[in-house]
Amino acid sequence: LNWEQAIGERLDRILGKDTPPNLAAAIRYGVLTPGKRFRPRLMEASARTLSVPDSHSVPFAVALEWIHAFTLIHDDLPCMDDDDFRRGLPTNHKVYGEALALLAGDALVPAAFELTLESLATGCPAAAWRKAFSLLVQATGPRGVIGGQAREFLLDATSTLEELKRMHALKTGALFDAAILIPAHLAGIESGSPRFEALENFSNAFGLGFQSADDLEDAAEEHDEAAGYTQTSILSHLSFQQVRQNAEQALSEAENRLRGVHGTHCAPLLELSHQLKQKLAAAQDPGSRT
Ligand code: IPE
Ligand code: IPE
Ligand code: MG
Repeated sequence: LNWEQAIGERLDRILGKDTPPNLAAAIRYGVLTPGKRFRPRLMEASARTLSVPDSHSVPFAVALEWIHAFTLIHDDLPCMDDDDFRRGLPTNHKVYGEALALLAGDALVPAAFELTLESLATGCPAAAWRKAFSLLVQATGPRGVIGGQAREFLLDATSTLEELKRMHALKTGALFDAAILIPAHLAGIESGSPRFEALENFSNAFGLGFQSADDLEDAAEEHDEAAGYTQTSILSHLSFQQVRQNAEQALSEAENRLRGVHGTHCAPLLELSHQLKQKLAAAQDPGSRT
């Protein structure tokens, strides 16, 4: 699937002619700057594994990417991380100002929820749509990414690894869970069934793996300047090799369980997990460098 096209075309449609041009420009910038589109690709892999029609899953995958874009725009604001660059370009508020960046992020949330109605219009069964929609909403809200961002404020130097993982499970994990489990709802798989639980387990391993790879890459880049790791890095609790090993092991176990329950159908998900393992393997331990 061509995600740039899928994401851009739907954005044009939802913004329509009546969105004020200043707001439309800030929204477009936030969404269309070059991201990896990892969450839609993950949802595509899950949908393929479960034989969900594209017309049912793609609106949810695009919506998920818009929600992700909203979190990044707000995360970079001066009152949050106060970052000047994102995806190699100036952050939204640097280009459009704080007020419009705030509104662009705000607007992406209802826009994403509205977009999921497209699945219903193409014949997605209402009961399945309702479960998928409810998961997307939860993953966004106080028990999802937004809750995770707030939970990060509660961490300090005395926080445990468990508390850190709990924060990451919301901040990063919630949207990965949505990517993998929304297709399970669209396919009518019962929560609590072995098929659902194998996907849930895979998603947890994937979220942890993604966060670990991110932390390892940051450590490899920042080692020269920084004396230690920030308290939100898993590396403030475990060694470089341990973080890598734990993530790889969790992924391998999750792959086996997925294969056991979903058989050869899960190849698209295994492919992405393979890519993530390569990323983990490629991270250079700064401690081993001279
Ligand atoms: C960045 O996510 C934020 C984290 C959860 C670490 P991505 O690494 O997926 O960012 P983009 O979308 O490719 O820019
Ligand atoms: C990004 O988080 C925003 C969310 C995951 C909600 P971070 O602050 O940890 O990541 P970067 O470094 O800005 O991409
Ligand atoms: Mg940030």
